Amino acid sequence: MFQELEEINKKPKPFEFYTAEELWTNQHTAEQMLKYHLNESVDLSSRNKKFIGKSSAWIIDHFNLNEKSKVIDFGCGPGLYTTRFAECGAQVTGLDFSDNSIQYAKKTAASKGFDINYIKTNYLDFKTEEKFDLITMIMCDFCALSPEQRMQLLSIFKGILASGGSILLDVYTISAFNKRAESAGYEANLLNNFWSPDKYYGFLNVFKYDAEKVVLDKYTIIEESRARTVYNWLQYFNENSISSEISDNSLVIKELYSDVAGTEYCIDNDEMALVIG
Ligand SMILES: C[S@@+](CC[C@H](N)C(=O)[O-])C[C@H]1O[C@@H](n2cnc3c(N)ncnc32)[C@H](O)[C@@H]1O
Repeated sequence: MFQELEEINKKPKPFEFYTAEELWTNQHTAEQMLKYHLNESVDLSSRNKKFIGKSSAWIIDHFNLNEKSKVIDFGCGPGLYTTRFAECGAQVTGLDFSDNSIQYAKKTAASKGFDINYIKTNYLDFKTEEKFDLITMIMCDFCALSPEQRMQLLSIFKGILASGGSILLDVYTISAFNKRAESAGYEANLLNNFWSPDKYYGFLNVFKYDAEKVVLDKYTIIEESRARTVYNWLQYFNENSISSEISDNSLVIKELYSDVAGTEYCIDNDEMALVIG
């Protein structure tokens, strides 16, 4: 018991373990995630419906999306953005490794008569000869990746970006990092059975890495017949740190906003959105 508690409370090295696939594709948690995506009033998994409406309208207008535009959305979830991009006639591709979300997105496209190319894949392995005018990655998914994975992803972006095209992504800021605090605790059925329909004890250890500007939410889920650990990493950025990462891939920040709805940039905001090219 003592050894197990030591393990639960152990602080790993930044990005030592990658368990995003367990979180997004485990059948039970994927169903919970889909419920969050589709809950129109909360900012969990996807942002609320009002924001997505405002944000997609801004993206369509700002990047002048039309029948000639080729758009690809990395981590498209159930297609809340891709569906709207298709509504303006753009040729749209959506990537996600959650089968649940991709199936939902495909059904929505079929019901609306949209020919959206949904691909179930880990976007870090994505390969294509196609080029895209706009690449999107929305809701700070970039922050969940290790420095090496971010480099890999930026290199994929660079390889598939059409000449004169743009990448739009959002990230958490240092202002948000400063609001996070370390903690440790546990609860029976932590997060209202999010992790399992059966009884479990859920431990949540929050670790901060001040030098790296990283936070880890480490979940240890103990059921009667199994135990598992899920590591939710978040990298927080300022203008310089994100700029230096993207310049390593010969990309530059073209525009900076407070969010993916084109709100004016403010350093105190918890998120920032970047147009890169
Ligand atoms: C925070 S959600 C955002 C969904 C969508 N962009 C939105 O704003 O509605 C992140 C999405 O990325 C997907 N995802 C996370 N890591 C991935 C990976 N390595 N490959 C493919 N999809 C991934 C998840 O399944 C999830 O649907």
